[in-house]
This record gives sequence, C-alpha cells and structure tokens, in this order.
Amino acid sequence: MPNKFDSIVIGSGPGGYVCAIRLAQNGHSVAIIEKNKNFGGTCLNIGCIPSKALLHASHVYEQSKNEYSKMGIKVKPSINIKELQDYKESMIKSNTDGISFLFKKNKIIPISGSAEILSSDAVKVTNGKNVDTYTASNIIIATGSTHNTIPGVEIDEKSIISSTGGLSLASVPENLLIIGAGYIGIELGSVWSRLGSKVTFVEAFDKILPNTDTECGDYLKKLLEKRGMKFILNTKVESVKKEKDGLKINLVNTIDNKKSMQRSDIVMQSVGRKPYFEGLGLDNVGLKRDKYGNIDVDKNFQTSEKNIYAIGDVINGPMLAHKAEEEGVAVADKIAGKYGHVNYEVIPSVIYCDPEIASVGKTETELENEKIAYKVGKFPFLANGRAKVNNQTEGFVKILSDAKTDKVHGVHIVGSDAGNLIGEAVLALEFGASSEDIARTCHAHPTLTESLKEAALDVDNMAIHK
Ligand code: NAI
Repeated sequence: MPNKFDSIVIGSGPGGYVCAIRLAQNGHSVAIIEKNKNFGGTCLNIGCIPSKALLHASHVYEQSKNEYSKMGIKVKPSINIKELQDYKESMIKSNTDGISFLFKKNKIIPISGSAEILSSDAVKVTNGKNVDTYTASNIIIATGSTHNTIPGVEIDEKSIISSTGGLSLASVPENLLIIGAGYIGIELGSVWSRLGSKVTFVEAFDKILPNTDTECGDYLKKLLEKRGMKFILNTKVESVKKEKDGLKINLVNTIDNKKSMQRSDIVMQSVGRKPYFEGLGLDNVGLKRDKYGNIDVDKNFQTSEKNIYAIGDVINGPMLAHKAEEEGVAVADKIAGKYGHVNYEVIPSVIYCDPEIASVGKTETELENEKIAYKVGKFPFLANGRAKVNNQTEGFVKILSDAKTDKVHGVHIVGSDAGNLIGEAVLALEFGASSEDIARTCHAHPTLTESLKEAALDVDNMAIHK
C-alpha cells in the first residue's frame, strides 16, 4: 500500500466518505482512515440508518394494530424484538457495504485504525500494535460528534443509556424516561412507545424540539400525548441513582427550583452532541477552536493550519448528515480549484416521528427577531384528498413569505411524509421562489404535494379547498 497521497480524509461518516469520493472524482489519490469496524460513522451505524429502520418497523407495527382494520385488513400483529434488531443490523450492513463498494469503485484506499495528526502533512495511524505514518498534501478532518454528558448521570449503556443503547435494547422496557425532548429523544421515544413502553420526557426548555417552529412542535406534542407519551417541561435531571427496584431520577424545576422525583426501568439521555476529536492530535498542530469548542474554519473549510481542513459535526452549524455531505463536496471542489459552496440558509431538517416535522428556512420566531415582516399561508392535510384516503390527515403545511416581495423565507410541515414533501420547498428556497411561484406551479392530483400549493395560495387568502 502507498503511504503518500494527494489527500487523506479522517473519518468515514457522511461528511468524510462523500468528501473522499468527490476528491477521487477530482483526480486525487485518496486514503480514508476509519477507527471503527464499519464505514459510515454515526449516521450509518448508530444514528440515522438504524433509527429509521426501527422507526419504520415500529410504525408499520403500530399501523397494523390501530389502522389496518379501518381499511378492512384483519391481522393480529405481535413483535419479536430479536428479529426487529436483526432487521436493523441487516439494514446497517447493507448501507455500510454500499460505502465499501463506492470506495473500490473510486479507487479510494481505506486505512483501518485511529488517526493522529503529526504535522500539516503527516498522519500516524495506530491499529492494535501496528503503527504507520502516511503523508498527504491535504488532510480533511471529518471525525463527527459524540453525545453530551450531564453531571449526575453516568451512562452504562445498560439501564442508563445514550442513543446508542436506545437503538439496541433487547426487550421493550416497561418504563423509559428520556432526558431531552430534542431530535433523538422524540424519535427513539416514539419507537419504544409504539412497541409498548410508557415513555416520559424530561425537558429543560418550556417546549419540545426547542429549535423547531413552535406551532409545529406544540401540535406534535399534543399528538404524542394522545398516544400516551408524557412531557415534564422546564425541568432538569439532577441525578439518576440505581436502586434495587429500578432507577430513581431526581428532578429540579428550572423556574421555581422545586425538586421532584421519577422512577423508571431505563433512562436514556439525549441532550445534544459535541464535536469529537479525541486523540486526533489537534494540539500537535495548534488547531484553533471557535467559541463553541468546534474546530475553527474559514469559508474554505480551512483550519488555522494550511492544508488541514475540517467539515461536518466538528465545525459550527447543525449536526446533520446532509449538511456534512454538502461540506464534503464543497471542500473537495475547493481543494481542486473548482467552485464549492454550501447555502447554510437552505438546509432542511426533518424529525422522523409520526407525523413527521420537516422545515427549511426561517421560523416565525426568527423572522420576528430579525424584524422581517412576513405573510403566512397554511393548509391542513385534513382538506387534502390523498391524505384522507391514506387515513393520514394530521398536520398542516405552513409557508412564510416576505410581506413586501413575497419571497419564501421558510416552510414548515407537520404531517405524514413531511420529510419527502419538504424537498419541493428546499428547491423553492434555493431558487429564491415567491409563494406565487409555488401557487402557479401545477401539482399532481391526488398527492400530498397539493397541500404545498394550497398553502402557497393561502398566503394571499386564495386557497381553493380551505
Ligand atoms: P437536540 O439538541 O435535538 O435536543 C436536546 C434536548 O435536550 C433539547 O431540547 C434541550 O433543551 C434538552 N436538554 C439539554 N440539557 C438538558 C437537561 N440537563 N435536562 C433536560 N433536558 C435537557 O439533541 P439530540 O436530540 O441529542 O440530538 C443531537 C443531534 O443529532 C442534533 O443536533 C440533531 O441535529 C442530530 N440528529 C438529527 C436527527 C435527524 O435529522 N432526524 C435525528 C437525531 C439526531
């Protein structure tokens, strides 16, 4: 194997592997270093892919119990957790195998082991007793993130778990208390609630999904409560103690400091993530950090050290796989002297609960804070023919457009398949569309997408079916 490359990428998550492919497409000799057994990073191994496998399967299970009979389909479903987990594992394998195939196809050299940056062009890789050093003209850091910790809560991945443990429970816990009602909490809480757990959320903020459009978040909270989930808001966990009969969770109210207590079989902690660069040798080359502790980069993704770049969760911005992928392509093109660009104003976000929440652009709160006058168009799925026949009428589409120019500032959807529906809105924002542009575009009937057209029409009170 050669030990000199044009580019070395550290980390094979969505940021790193996509970057490696684009570098290779641009004619570079590329090595990618990964310390885990599988390629794909958090997203493929302990994040997006396994959680969506469990979300999909548990959704089908719930539907088969509660919805099928409404359509005349008579089944008596039961769930086998071992087989469900096997299904999840097979989905991980199928996706990570896909990356191996793409590396071969693009002649990217995978190197197994932990990377330590020695200088601006040298990386040491340790794999057990083997230690090798590789050199490259460019080093791209894409080492991702790990879960935050909170004092008083010691994760053992058995009864006190992170999202990693939350993806791999061997049986359905009777009670599951989740610290943090953010992305991970809501998604994995939905999975175990559908499978039969009594799920309680403890959330420090006064609402769930704090960064999401408030109306969508509040609407979802009501639906999740109807499905049996409980929310304790404005509350922090002080400590989790193991006792003979389970876990004792000590809580404190963030407004009046009143203390209270909960009991649960399992506690899952999902209170955000932080950049991961343990053992990477950032100090060997004096890489600067920003005020949040991320690796500081300029608009070219270049760190304080020439020839060392960083992308994805280790730099500022939303910790989303698709944001990291965009940055991976952009930095690879910039290194090759081409044009590379990420439009941070137009990065969609999706929470894959039921119904899904999907957003792009600004929320109402952001528009108000920025003193931008805006108009609102809204359309409920209850009035959409396809949603009706699908028996999926929960939710709505909301379009926020500029009061003067009509340019769309944000689109927020809560509803079935919102994660796919948002694609049209992302394109609209990327092209600088007005709500009238969406309203004048022909949408196929009968589809859920007609709700986007109707919401756009509603911006000027011209919706047809409302
Ligand atoms: P998050 O930032 O989405 O939510 C964390 C929640 O914990 C917040 O609501 C926060 O107010 C609350 N919190 C913080 N400290 C607390 C405390 N001591 N007690 C009670 N509540 C507390 O973070 P999460 O859910 O851990 O997800 C991590 C990252 O992973 C997110 O940044 C997200 O972008 C990404 N992710 C994305 C998914 C998607 O795109 N569908 C799915 C899962 C994760």
